[in-house]
Amino acid sequence: MPVPLDLVCRCFFVTESEITELVTEKNFTSIGEVTEACSAGGGCGSCRPDIAQIISTITGKEVDPFSD
Ligand code: FES
Repeated sequence: MPVPLDLVCRCFFVTESEITELVTEKNFTSIGEVTEACSAGGGCGSCRPDIAQIISTITGKEVDPFSD
């Protein structure tokens, strides 16, 4: 299976579009909520800055990549 171009979380194979959809539909404002919903960010943690960026872009609020 080819790797999706917008893959964000390699540990749990979660894409940017999936995270964007979750944050938008469920009004998530934290990485912890995203991790709880789809596991993204709950493994090695290297994707957390990307998840924080996605949440920030949608909510317009700063998100600390290293806190839940
Ligand atoms: S790449 Fe997302 S937790 Fe490892």
